[in-house]
Amino acid sequence: MKKKILITPHHLTESKAKKLTRTHKKILVTGGAGYIGSHAVKLFLEKGYEVVVFDNLFRGFKEPIQILKKIGKLSFIQGDLRNKVDIEKVFRTHKIDCVLHFAALCLVNESMENPGLYFENNVCGSLNLFEAMKKFKVGKIIFSSTCATYGETKYLPVDEAHPQNPVNPYGESKLLVEKMLPWYETFGLRYVILRYFNICGAATSGIIGDSKKPSQLLMQNAVRGAMGIEPFAFTCAKVKTPDETPIRDYIDVEDLVEAHFAAYEFLRVGGKSDVFNLGNGKGYSVKEIVSEVEQNFGVKLKKVKAPARKGEYAKIFANPKKAQRILKWRPRKSIADSVESLKKWYDGHPDGYEK
Ligand SMILES: NC(=O)c1ccc[n+]([C@@H]2O[C@H](COP(=O)([O-])OP(=O)(O)OC[C@H]3O[C@@H](n4cnc5c(N)ncnc54)[C@H](O)[C@@H]3O)[C@@H](O)[C@H]2O)c1
Repeated sequence: MKKKILITPHHLTESKAKKLTRTHKKILVTGGAGYIGSHAVKLFLEKGYEVVVFDNLFRGFKEPIQILKKIGKLSFIQGDLRNKVDIEKVFRTHKIDCVLHFAALCLVNESMENPGLYFENNVCGSLNLFEAMKKFKVGKIIFSSTCATYGETKYLPVDEAHPQNPVNPYGESKLLVEKMLPWYETFGLRYVILRYFNICGAATSGIIGDSKKPSQLLMQNAVRGAMGIEPFAFTCAKVKTPDETPIRDYIDVEDLVEAHFAAYEFLRVGGKSDVFNLGNGKGYSVKEIVSEVEQNFGVKLKKVKAPARKGEYAKIFANPKKAQRILKWRPRKSIADSVESLKKWYDGHPDGYEK
């Protein structure tokens, strides 16, 4: 039999030819107008993919979409996952190769106050997405899950086999979605579940970042405090750790989205459905992060007292070896790098994006 030869015009290098092939693959990013999703959009555009963002703009913004349109081919569709018609329309109009599913509500405290909102938005929204994918035969998904599905830790560092006993409705809603995915495998859906630990930082260039007001994320808030944008408040509960503040595993948003690209490559070449922790494997207490920010800025933060958040636990950090081994992914950015990127981001956007 004759061997098939891929004919590339001689003026194209092999890598340019590969990039051209990629531009024909469309990636759907739900929640792509939000913090982490917009960083993933940026990366996939830079890699030469065409991206479709689907977002209801409840917590997301149009501004990052406008900024990112300058990088590559990006379409934006405003719609709500809770509305089947909205999401089906996306698959009817775009041939999607893979879905990166970020769209969710993700505030632990809010979920304790309003669990119904979390189950409706995160669980029913995901169900509508999976059903639409089944209907339109889209066979790859990367799902943003969380270490909040583990709850109080039985051992550290936490690997993927650790029992999952969420202690808040947010974590429970994500666990329910995780549990739905294997039931869709029979219909040809391959998935990667990524359980993120604590996310920090912004794009190194500072062009996009986290615009939640006020941010719910510690490092973001500490940097805003150090820059004099708003007072810094300790919102953590007193817990059983050496300095009585919660210990978490911080991972930079650019490292995190690189893992999504690795997961996409894994699925693209036929990888089987799997789940991976995404963390650094090292725990920092709240006080340690605050002092890192203080050192970087050479200031002492004025700490305002605020009510402690509900639904928080004492200590968690990841065993990220599985992602390192199988996805060949390694975080590169240090805590200091993340602080630097936040400084750049808030310099240009002290009030975040415009609504
Ligand atoms: N930020 C973290 O520290 C963290 C940690 C672990 C996991 N995660 C997960 O990562 C994902 C992204 O988090 P983020 O910090 O970027 O949040 P974000 O709020 O900035 O982004 C989420 C986006 O989803 C959109 N969205 C929400 N519900 C929707 C719906 N029903 N239909 C359409 N769009 C909808 C919002 O408008 C927003 O733009 C979430 O799934 C979250 O659970 C985040």
